[in-house]
Amino acid sequence: MNSSEPQLEILDTARADRYRAVVHTAVDRTADRFASVTAPTTDTPAAVLRDRVAAIDLDRPLGTAEAAVAEVDTLFCAEAVWFHHPGSLAHLNCPVAVPAVAAETVLAAVNPSVDTWDQSRIGTDIERRVVRWAAGTIGFADGDGIFTSGGTQSNLHALLLARQAATSRTGRAGRRPALDDLVVFATASSHFSVRKSAMVLGLPEHAVVDVAADAAGRMRPDALAHAVADARREGRTPMAVVATAGTTDRGCIDPLEPIADVCDLEDVWLHVDAAYGCGLLVSPTRRHLLDGIERARSVTADFHKSFFQPVSSSALLLRDPADLGRAAWHADYLNPEDADEPNQVDKSLQTTRRFDALKLWATLRASGATAIGRAFDTVLDVTEQVHEHVGAHPDLVLVAPTQLSTVLFRWQPDGVVDADADVLVAPLRAALLAEGRVLVAKTVVDGRPCNKLTLLDPGTSAEQVVAALDHVVATAERLHAERTATTTNHLRTTEPTGANR
Ligand SMILES: Cc1ncc(COP(=O)(O)O)c(C=O)c1O
Repeated sequence: MNSSEPQLEILDTARADRYRAVVHTAVDRTADRFASVTAPTTDTPAAVLRDRVAAIDLDRPLGTAEAAVAEVDTLFCAEAVWFHHPGSLAHLNCPVAVPAVAAETVLAAVNPSVDTWDQSRIGTDIERRVVRWAAGTIGFADGDGIFTSGGTQSNLHALLLARQAATSRTGRAGRRPALDDLVVFATASSHFSVRKSAMVLGLPEHAVVDVAADAAGRMRPDALAHAVADARREGRTPMAVVATAGTTDRGCIDPLEPIADVCDLEDVWLHVDAAYGCGLLVSPTRRHLLDGIERARSVTADFHKSFFQPVSSSALLLRDPADLGRAAWHADYLNPEDADEPNQVDKSLQTTRRFDALKLWATLRASGATAIGRAFDTVLDVTEQVHEHVGAHPDLVLVAPTQLSTVLFRWQPDGVVDADADVLVAPLRAALLAEGRVLVAKTVVDGRPCNKLTLLDPGTSAEQVVAALDHVVATAERLHAERTATTTNHLRTTEPTGANR
């Protein structure tokens, strides 16, 4: 080996000081970025970003950790998307709590895996305690659960457990249902991971039945009761009802109490996808919006959305701890069935697994749950003001109400017809993204396209969002004028000449 070749620096006893120096450098640079952010991202074109990445020769190392950290800073951080900037309004991704970031640094260095107890020891106890605490906020007095990589995995895991429960029971026909017989009930605005999970779980394409929603997009309990009855009449087996506590677009909460009534009556597994709305669990003013959640059999909570935790941090929480055992698997080398130690891998779909619970633990220890709930309340208060502003704005149409923090709107001043407003939705988002000053999303509601804001920064004021919307309106006006001019020119140049008239 050539002694001048760079060495792999493993973090060990001898390199404690190297670790300190390198991570300090990275933290200093990142802190400088945070302190100087003036836009949610830059206007560097996508092709330039792609070329910069392509130009780096991964087979020619820079030689030192410091050089690599500097390159990460200039290559990635300089072009990152900043979720704490008031113009960052496009996604359900939050700015993060400082103690959680510190805990992330710790767990990255220590590198435990909370799959077996002997790899994590007290880490397992901490995760279990955080899970029991979170289950307690739902009202699961003896609940259990497991941290997952995100809401998608939590929903998949819940539906796997529900599938196992449904297929282990002898149905009315005197036999255990086949996968083809199973039905999952959800509204069309439930998260796409519900349908994707059904596919992964081997359910047929028609397994997920869209239950009718009310005008606000919430599941209609009467329609659910009919859909369940219809499925039974067709000889199919209701496997689960997925109620959403905070739909991704409308931010609305399905009526949990009457849905739970239907599920109790019909003896169907109720899963509540509270990936987005889980922050309400600790809200000092809006906890009642989740009344009935304690009647669910399983709940998805994404702490990396409304608990201000760094990605990833999500949990699947169960009312009855025994349900987690429905997907347990054992291996002699890892978690034998007769193990004395509490191995979290018994409860998880993952094997090696991040100790994400430490981040929420650190946040709870630093400021407590009420501070998290107050921060989410602040976001919701600001959203209410933004809704009022959009509703009263002469050039904007408020497309739908919300119970959480989304704002669905369309730029459509008087005189602009539906088709012209619709056609502007996608270019408006794209133009704003290309510029990097204000980031918005686009979606489709009731068959028509619209733009969307998702607020998730408690540090962003209503005035700042209004200023961002001013820029959105000005950009829409410009794009509309450009389109109109292009169409007029096109008509002029393609108009038949006088001789041909
Ligand atoms: C309601 C809902 N459920 C589940 C998910 C999926 O969560 P994740 O992106 O963490 O997998 C989302 C993501 O936006 C969501 O809004």
